[in-house]
Amino acid sequence: MNREDFLMFKNNPDLIYFDNGATTFKPKCVISAINDYYTKYTANSHRGDYNLSLKIDELYEGTREIVKDFINAKSSKEIIFTKGTTDSLNIIVFSFMRYYLKKGDEVLITKAEHASNVLPWFELEKEIGIKVNFIPLNENHEVTLENLKKVINKDTKVVSLAYITNVIGDVRPIKEIAKYLHEKNILLCVDGAQSVPHMKTDVISDDIDFLAFSAHKMLGPTGIGVLYAKEKYLELFKPLIYGGGMNARFESSKEVEYKELPLRLEAGTSNIAGVLGLRSAILYLEEIGLNKIEKYEHELREYLVSRLKEIPNVIVYNEFSKSGIVVFNLEGVFAEDTSRYLNHYHICVRAGNHCTKMVKDEIKVKNTCRVSLYLYNTKEEIDKFIEVLKDNKKLFEVIL
Ligand code: ALA
Repeated sequence: MNREDFLMFKNNPDLIYFDNGATTFKPKCVISAINDYYTKYTANSHRGDYNLSLKIDELYEGTREIVKDFINAKSSKEIIFTKGTTDSLNIIVFSFMRYYLKKGDEVLITKAEHASNVLPWFELEKEIGIKVNFIPLNENHEVTLENLKKVINKDTKVVSLAYITNVIGDVRPIKEIAKYLHEKNILLCVDGAQSVPHMKTDVISDDIDFLAFSAHKMLGPTGIGVLYAKEKYLELFKPLIYGGGMNARFESSKEVEYKELPLRLEAGTSNIAGVLGLRSAILYLEEIGLNKIEKYEHELREYLVSRLKEIPNVIVYNEFSKSGIVVFNLEGVFAEDTSRYLNHYHICVRAGNHCTKMVKDEIKVKNTCRVSLYLYNTKEEIDKFIEVLKDNKKLFEVIL
């Protein structure tokens, strides 16, 4: 849908782009929003008393409201602009969890998490002696409430999960998990990088304590993302970055007063162009409707999986997942070779471990090819992809 809004297709007419889990194309309105900032109303935010700067303040803080409504947060104070999901997750771990958790406390994750929802926790384990343990996955490599219940114990203080994982692409039962955890006073942190762009997010209805996501995976610019936390927790975040914009006053006596949320956690000049691009991306997605996008991607996914089954030497590792992520290999062929073969026909898929290096323990294979779909992909593109893949006898001829 809406392909005419994406100049990447006009400028690359032969391209089939199936790597939307890595990043997405940008519609014209997002590019215009960034361009307008640099050509029509460049100014810093929260610092000037002149009209240009006031306009930027209005747009910047207006975007916070738009993000708040987009994920259905209670207050725009709960929305912090960051560099992206990785940044947001690191801030959650090192601004809050570092002080909230004590030696011996347990954090549960899974082996299907992306590096950014693993490595900050591993570092905190080294730093303060928390225990990071893994929730066992079921035969489809999914998290289930039953499996979670089996491993929760008196030391468990936090569970940190992707809503949709970037390799298995399973949609986790976050609402049920949150309900169960909150009965036991356990916090839930959610990596929304692969879910927020593809389905309606509702942090109130799901009762999510912390959420991280990136603009560039949802048609927005790179280098901008969001950290959401319930206000009662966000109030306790100790800033990682100090400087301009986040302080109310400081004296030579070393007396310092910091600003209230959210600016306290946004030191330095922000990525204003990024925020305005994100604003435009959200408005664009909302105009189409997240439910419509989710439904469309689901249809594409079902079609893709059914067509992949036509090829005898294709192994699909996540047949039962519900998102637009499909991981596969050609039997006996390295994922990178398959991806280079597809590249020869201008088809972009990602090959490798997808920054999710422990998932190999689950699916028993180190590298896979990943198709990750988005709203502008079509069945015709899938047909072309299948046609090329079916012809895989000539793979080595093509890539060597
Ligand atoms: N996290 C991104 C991906 O899964 C880069 O491709």
